Amino acid sequence: MIKKEMLYEGKAKKVFKTDDEGKYIIEYKDDATAFNGVKKGTILGKGIINNKMSSLLFKLLEEKGIPTHFLEFLNDREMIVKNVKIIPLEVIMRNVAAGSLAKRLGLEEGTPLKTPVLEFCYKNDDLGDPMINDYHIKAIELAADNEIQKIKEYAFKTNDILVEFFKDRNIRLVDFKLEFGLHDGEVILADEISPDTCRLWDLKTNKKLDKDRFRRDLGEVEEAYEEVLKRLQ
Ligand code: C5P
Repeated sequence: MIKKEMLYEGKAKKVFKTDDEGKYIIEYKDDATAFNGVKKGTILGKGIINNKMSSLLFKLLEEKGIPTHFLEFLNDREMIVKNVKIIPLEVIMRNVAAGSLAKRLGLEEGTPLKTPVLEFCYKNDDLGDPMINDYHIKAIELAADNEIQKIKEYAFKTNDILVEFFKDRNIRLVDFKLEFGLHDGEVILADEISPDTCRLWDLKTNKKLDKDRFRRDLGEVEEAYEEVLKRLQ
């Protein structure tokens, strides 16, 4: 397969066309941003860890019946994926109160939630990714009703699978963000699943093993990413 021109460069990834129309190559970078790009930095080796972890988790989810964009691990920083048209939604799943939910609802970080919570945000940097609901999604035509139902079904199922998977590796899956896309008219899971997009706490000590170490200047950022991958492999 031949890597062709870059289609898109995001904060943490680049997407390239290939000589095969149905396939893209995603390249994972070490660049890190937070607070809608206000905080910038580098997490050395992050691109390699996020590529390996996403590959491993997409493979697991495919085996459990969730359709994903993942096709093949190419090398340390690159994976081959199906071409998708990303639906501009951040789909957030939460099991424990943390981050913006803890703030918004006045809950102490670490408070378990009685049931998993799904939130939608409109993926739009200029607007700061505002939270929206199904009605907004339909009203501004971000996705159709049947697509929203599929997204919800896959998001809850992904949560069930990942909570168990991480628990077996002594990690609490506090919350995470998913993105979906359309491929041949079907909704499939896309983007990445990594310590950049999940809150992962050590099951016993609650030590943060994710991007909050970078966002909140907690130190040992690289070590945390490495620790997660070590426990997953
Ligand atoms: O900040 P907040 O508490 O809303 O984040 C919830 C989850 O979604 C966290 O795991 C965070 O890493 C993830 N997230 C993300 N990309 C964003 C916003 C949130 O990966 N743009």
